[in-house]
Parts: sequence; C-alpha cells; structure tokens
Amino acid sequence: MLGIKTLKEHLAILPDDLATLIETFAQISMDMQTNFPKYLSGVENEPNKYGEAVAKLDAWANKTLCDNLLQTGLVRKIYSEELQTPVEGREDAPFVITLDPLDGSSNITTNNAFGIILGIYRSDFPQKGRDLVAAAYKLYGPVNTLVYTTGKGVHEFVKHYYEDGAVRFLLLHENMKLPIKPEVFGVGGKPMQWSGNFREFAKNLFKEKKMRPRYCGTFVADFSQVLHRGGFFSYPSTEGAPDGKLRLAYECAPLSFICENAGGASWDGRSGSILDVQIEDADARIPLYLGNKEVIEELKKTQGN
Ligand code: F6P
Ligand code: MN
Repeated sequence: MLGIKTLKEHLAILPDDLATLIETFAQISMDMQTNFPKYLSGVENEPNKYGEAVAKLDAWANKTLCDNLLQTGLVRKIYSEELQTPVEGREDAPFVITLDPLDGSSNITTNNAFGIILGIYRSDFPQKGRDLVAAAYKLYGPVNTLVYTTGKGVHEFVKHYYEDGAVRFLLLHENMKLPIKPEVFGVGGKPMQWSGNFREFAKNLFKEKKMRPRYCGTFVADFSQVLHRGGFFSYPSTEGAPDGKLRLAYECAPLSFICENAGGASWDGRSGSILDVQIEDADARIPLYLGNKEVIEELKKTQGN
C-alpha cells in the first residue's frame, strides 16, 4: 500500500539546500528515463579514465545529471565516475557531490536493471564515507525507485503516475531495516579468482545458511535485494584485482552509508567499515563486503580478522 507522502513533503524537515538538491536529483533522474531508448547501443570514441568503454547512455546520463545539478547553484564540485577531472560549480555553493551516473552499464543492452548513485558532502576530499551528509540511489527496474538517507533512517520512494498526468515520487517504505534473517547473496568476479578462504565462506552461505544466490551485475540492484530481503553482497578482492572492482567514492561509500543506516554492516576486507576508509583518491577501488551484521562478523572471523 503506497503512503500518501510525496518525496517533497518527506524532505521538508531537512535544511532547504539539502532538500532542494535531493529533490532535484530525484526529478532529473525521473525525467531521464524517457530518453533511455535513444541511447541503447553504441559507445563513445574515447574510453573513460579506467580504460573502460563508455556507453552512449553513460555519457548522456553523466552530462544530463552534471548540467542539471550544477544549475541548482548548490554544487561546488562534482566528482563523477565518467569525468577525467572533477567539474567545478559555484565557489560558494554548499555541497560537493560524487556521482556514478549509470551504475550497471553492462545491463543496458540486455534490458536488465541499472541505476544511479549519489553521494553528498559539505566538504571536499580527503574525507571519509562517514562524512556523507546524504546518499541516494535510483533504481530503474520494472518500477522506478529512489532510496535516500541523511543518516537518520533509510527511505524508499516509487515513481507514481497520477490520473491527471502528474508524476511524483511517493513514499513506499520509511525507516527501512535489513530483515533479520539473511535470505539472498550475490558476489561479483570469477569464483576461481576469489581467495580460497572467501570461496569457502561463499559456499557456506548456500550450504549451511541456506541463502539463495542472486546476482544481477548492477550494484544498486544487487544492494536493493539485500536491503529488502536481508543477505550479503560483495565484489571481493580477487587474484589479479586485489582492490576489487567497485569504486570507493562513487559506489561503495554511498551504498555502505545506506546499508549501515538500515542496520547492516560493511567491511573493506582489511581494517573495518568502508565508511572509515579515508578517501584520498576519488577514483580508487576497494574490496567491498556488505549485508546483515552477523554475516559480516562471520566473514571477518573466517578471513582471519
Ligand atoms: O559499476 C560497476 C558495475 O557495473 C557494478 O554496478 C556491478 O556490481 C559490477 O560492475 C558488475 O561487475 P561484473 O560485470 O564483473 O559482474
Ligand atoms: Mn557503478
């Protein structure tokens, strides 16, 4: 049953600048979907800073989001996964943001879910994920959802079409918590390149814990399963990629912030929570493990931590 509260009403208790920024992000990402069919194939001539091919939709999403977010006058700097260098906004603007403009690009051509990840800070890097003022993600699935937190509860909204033609985000779940019983897990990378210890841990998730393997290949979609059903998600350190695949600033910090605010835990495979890792280089990758607290605790024990 849909709540009657709109996103705008829900944001009303926040400082005006933060509410406007989140509302603008929600509005742009809502409008963007109508243009997706135009950019379903093709790549840009130049690869991105990681040497990966940039899909037409990646490039278009990045430009659309950056242009519109800068226009609010609220953004001092944007660090984007798709930009060689951060883009500067007004010097006196209150926020520095991180953007994964299209999370799950490999799912564009297959018409599987993909999304957007946003991190909002008041200061510039170096700082930690724990310094986030807010984090949000958009998930384009069969329905279009937005999840945000400002550190006080995790809330989910769904794009709702009114009979008079209006379209708004309506509250779907407020103060979300990971269910107590972990049900699903997803792990990225090739199993034969995981460490032996980690492979054993993953095997026990279905063998002993009776959890179901579910892997979409889009971080926000895989995380959404953990948030709703309880479980575990990881893109671990692998042979050949000791830092994993996911990016600390654009992907891991914002979703760990949401996960921990929903009662879950995150781990960097080394020292502790992803949120306590100092972000010196916005483009750095990091191994990521997140999900229900007791699953993460067990993982730490089995990996010798
Ligand atoms: O942004 C990187 C990403 O697309 C994530 O959304 C996803 O978790 C991961 O890569 C999937 O990687 P792979 O294709 O190796 O499974
Ligand atoms: Mn991504």
